[in-house]
Order: sequence, then C-alpha cells, then structure tokens
Amino acid sequence: MSDKMSDSVVRIFDTTLRDGEQSPGASMTVEQKLVIARQLEKLGVDVIEAGFAASSEGDFESIARISREVSRPRVLSLARSQEGDINRALKAVEQAKNPGIHIFIATSDIHLKHKLRMSRQEVLDAAVKAVAYAKKHIDYIEFSAEDASRSDPDFLIQVFKEVIRAGARTINVPDTTGYAIPSEFGALMSQLIERTAGADRVTWSAHCHNDLGLAVANSLAAVHNGARQIECTINGIGERAGNTSLEEVVMALRTRKNYLSLDTGIVTEQIYPTSRLVSQVTGIAIPINKPIVGDNAFAHEAGIHQDGVLKHRQTYEIMTPESIGIPGNRLVMGKHSGRHAFDERLKHLGFNLSKEDMNRAFLRFKELADKKKNVYDEDIEAIVAEEILRVPGQPDRYELLYLSVNSSSDGVPAATMKMRVGGEERMDHASGDGVVDACYKVIAKITGSQSQLVRYTVNAITGGADAQGGVSCLIEDDGIRVSGQGAHTDIIMASALAFINALNKLEGRKHYRRLVEREGP
Ligand code: KIV
Ligand code: ZN
Repeated sequence: MSDKMSDSVVRIFDTTLRDGEQSPGASMTVEQKLVIARQLEKLGVDVIEAGFAASSEGDFESIARISREVSRPRVLSLARSQEGDINRALKAVEQAKNPGIHIFIATSDIHLKHKLRMSRQEVLDAAVKAVAYAKKHIDYIEFSAEDASRSDPDFLIQVFKEVIRAGARTINVPDTTGYAIPSEFGALMSQLIERTAGADRVTWSAHCHNDLGLAVANSLAAVHNGARQIECTINGIGERAGNTSLEEVVMALRTRKNYLSLDTGIVTEQIYPTSRLVSQVTGIAIPINKPIVGDNAFAHEAGIHQDGVLKHRQTYEIMTPESIGIPGNRLVMGKHSGRHAFDERLKHLGFNLSKEDMNRAFLRFKELADKKKNVYDEDIEAIVAEEILRVPGQPDRYELLYLSVNSSSDGVPAATMKMRVGGEERMDHASGDGVVDACYKVIAKITGSQSQLVRYTVNAITGGADAQGGVSCLIEDDGIRVSGQGAHTDIIMASALAFINALNKLEGRKHYRRLVEREGP
C-alpha cells in the first residue's frame, strides 16, 4: 500500500483498539478486537492501530492476530521511545502485510519536568535513537510528539526535523489533553509544515482529544492546513472525553467537500454497522443526539421540519441516512424467518462470525422470536453481544441457572438465585432496596465478589411492551474496572446477566494480572 496519498485524500487512522480501548471500562478481549478489526477493514480505514504491544500480553496477542488476519489496512503497534517497547511492537506486527510502528515521546515542558524528568536534549536524543533503531528493522514509522499542542513550537520543529532524518514517514501532532482551539491548532499545523526541514517527505497527522468538545473541529482545522492523516475512533470513544469521532469527521469531509475539497477512502455505508458493533462490544451506549449515528440524528420532530422534509428532504437534511448505512426500511424478523435470512442479516450488521458462532446465535434468535413477535436489528446485535462477543476465550466461571424475585408495594424485595461457580452449583437468597439490588446482593453472596458497582444503565433495546432490556454495568475490584452487558425480555434477568458477564471478565483480568506478576509481561 502506498502511504503517500494524493494531495486531496485524507488518510483515516483508526485507533479504536488502542486509544479507544483506554475509555474506562472499554477493555476488549482478543476475539472482540478481531471482530472489530475485520469490520474496520470493511469500513475502509487506511491504518488500524491495533494496540500497544508492550503494555500487556493481551494487547500483544491482539496485534499479532490482527496482523495475520487483516490484509489491506496498515497495522500498527504503539511503542514508547525505548528499545524494549520497539522490539515488542516489531514482533507483534511482523506478520502484517503492511506493518508499521508508532513511536511516541512527550515534548511539552510540563511533561518533561513532571512526568519524564528529562531535559529537552535528552528527549530529542531518545526520540532520534528510537526512530533510528526501529528503522533498521522496519520501514514504516510514525512518530508522535505527545502533548504537542502545549509544546514549544521551536522545540517541536527541532525534534520533527531530526526524526524525519532518522527515517520517520508520518509525523503526528497530538492535542493530547484536548486543549487546543481550532484556529490555533490549524495555525500550529501550518507553522510546523512550513518550518520543519524535510516536511515534504512525510505525511502530517492530527490526533485530537475531545475534552472541550473540539476534537473534530481541530482535526478539520489540521487538514485545512496541510495535514493528510486524521487519527480517530469509532463513536469517538477514548481516554477521558474521547478522541475525534471517525463518523463525524468523515461525514464532515464528505458533506462539505464543496468547501474542503478533500476525500477519504471510507465506505460510508459501513459507518452505522461499525458504530453499532463497537457500542455492543464495549457496552458504551451511543447518546441519542450523537451526530451521524445517534437515534435522533435523522429524526425530525417539529411540524415545520417534517413538512419541509416531506416536500423535499434537503430542506432539513444535509446527508441521507442511507449514506451511512442506516437501513431505509427496517427489516423485521420473527419466528418464521429462516436460517438464510438470519445469516444475511448478521452479515449486513457487520458480524462476520464463524459457522459455529452463527449456529449459536441462530438458536438464541429462535428462542427470542418465540417470546417476542418482532425481532429487530438491535435485538440481533444484543444476541451477538450476549452470546458470542462476550466469550473471553475461556469458559465462563460464573453462570446463571435460576432466578426468582419477589416484589410488592409493602414487602421487602428479595431474590433467590442458583448459579454454577467453576462447575459447582450454589444457591442463596438476599433482600435489598429493590429487586435489582437484591439480585446483585445474592450474586455477590454466591460468588464472594467484593466488587463495587460504579455504573448501571438500562435501555429498551427496541420499542414496544415486549422490548428486550439492555443492561450495561461497570464494576470495579482491586483497581480493575470492567463493564458487563446483558439483554433479556425481562429487565431483572438482563441486570443479573450483565453483572455476571462483568464478573466473568473480571476473572479473566485477574487471572492475567496473576500471570504477569509471576512471569512478567
Ligand atoms: O493522545 C496522545 O498523545 C496519544 C499519543 C500516544 C499519540 O495517544
Ligand atoms: Zn490519544
């Protein structure tokens, strides 16, 4: 793949699997990351940052598996400016068709003084040494100056000049703290490109965080001033307030091509399925008013607007739902839907499942269709998230076998539950402030869990009284935070399943931590 793109094309670098995964509670299993990576390829992203190889065994394995499975996009691993990190990153991407590594070091005085405790000269030396070392083993190197937007531009120019000389092919300018203002960030990009020796030999890139809600605006300002790569994530997930949202920035470029004259290689019709997939896998809900992919993004409520849209869509619509892959008419499935139609629907929703997983999902679909007249796309997504994507590559330690709850206006809510815990059946009961509380207490009793519930959210997955309830919970134990998801036509069951799902994930994380403590990363 050529990485020097035409002057009118902006390269889309997706970091959902690295920076996106840094969202609290968004950690994903290797299998989940693979499913997302395959979908990102279908979406047409140019680069997939698959993880940070030196940070964990799980990240290393995900990068290595994605490197083997994905063929068109370039696959990168992040690495600090240290030989150990670089070696690990090189090993992780070695089987990729288009491998690369992404080396970074902070350049702002505040990071140098308080975090790195290094002088500017030491940072410059470390950056150049790291790029030169990596260049002996791999051709494609991206270099990032962390906290660039709060760094002295003269120092940035010095560092960039030297790393370009050492062989970096892309220079990334991160607004790490989401501090920049669009006109300021655009001017910084323009100044860097103008004043850095060798600037014309590399691609310039923007990596913006959304702390002030300006990540997309800053990324657009950067490309308006010469950058030709945008780093972004699906649904804008990421550290703190997140990163530039891929769907927003791509649709801004497409919709305002008349102003910006820039293109991307994104297959925009894959945006909606990808967004839903990432939300299902991570358990991070899409706000209803989120641009492009939120439920209300194309809903017209006011009478005047509805009248206008009915007369001529463009009166109030600057893009069509079809252009991002929202199905024109929702296909409703039910108990008479056959296997072929179900498989086709799964594929349309972005799930490329193995035959065995398709069979499992189909069985769950049939069970649901017996309880619920109409099965919508959202129900199918919930089935896949519940049944397939949550399996962390090893058998679940905890399984729900039976649940009964009591609730009345004057009694104390109580729950009785039977669970399988590591092969052994256990039964207990507990009371609580409400039935969900009673349920969570009995699960904690049976499993011995000391975890704290940090967040609990419930959504109706579709409309109607027989709608499935989707529950997402975030729990914390011993400094580890994980999210769990559950879907069921009974909201109490969905709540119990979400908590048990989170506990299973927590087991996996604790197991990994014990392994690292014993054997090192
Ligand atoms: O925000 C940031 O600075 C980063 C770098 C590692 C590119 O994520
Ligand atoms: Zn970042």
